[in-house]
Amino acid sequence: MKIEFTLNGEPVHVEAPASITLLHLLREHLGLTGSKPGCEVGECGACSVMLDGRVVNSCQLLAPQVAGREVVTIEGIHAPGGGPNDLQLAFLEFGAVQCGYCTPGMVVAAEAFLARHPKPSRAEIREAISGNLCRCTGYQQIVDAVEATAARRRAQSEGRGQ
Ligand code: FES
Ligand code: FES
Repeated sequence: MKIEFTLNGEPVHVEAPASITLLHLLREHLGLTGSKPGCEVGECGACSVMLDGRVVNSCQLLAPQVAGREVVTIEGIHAPGGGPNDLQLAFLEFGAVQCGYCTPGMVVAAEAFLARHPKPSRAEIREAISGNLCRCTGYQQIVDAVEATAARRRAQSEGRGQ
């Protein structure tokens, strides 16, 4: 069937089986392999994408369910001119990336959270990423990176008088 939606700000028209998950549509039909197949049963968050601004597990959605909606994947998260954005750089700075398998989903979840919570507590950050499993970092560094990014974004917007 033909599926039409907005992907990382661009309209997409793709022919795919109605039974395919959004995760496999992205990876196999659209060449976007940043969203990772981890558990594929909705437990690990490695496949996280934003759907209309909310984090979802793309392994748990059938592709036709996103028709007419807006999907943002890790490939759609970058600095304005391309390259890593401030959050992604903070992940590197704070050692929040080790094996990296969880990282795309973690960044997607953190960006969706920061968009709604510009001044989060550490407990709120932990809660926001609780659906994203990481077996490497112990989460401390990830929380540090998200917290620092929130603080830097606030400082920047205050500097701009917003
Ligand atoms: Fe989707 Fe684990 S691969 S939640
Ligand atoms: Fe390896 Fe998170 S960095 S699972």
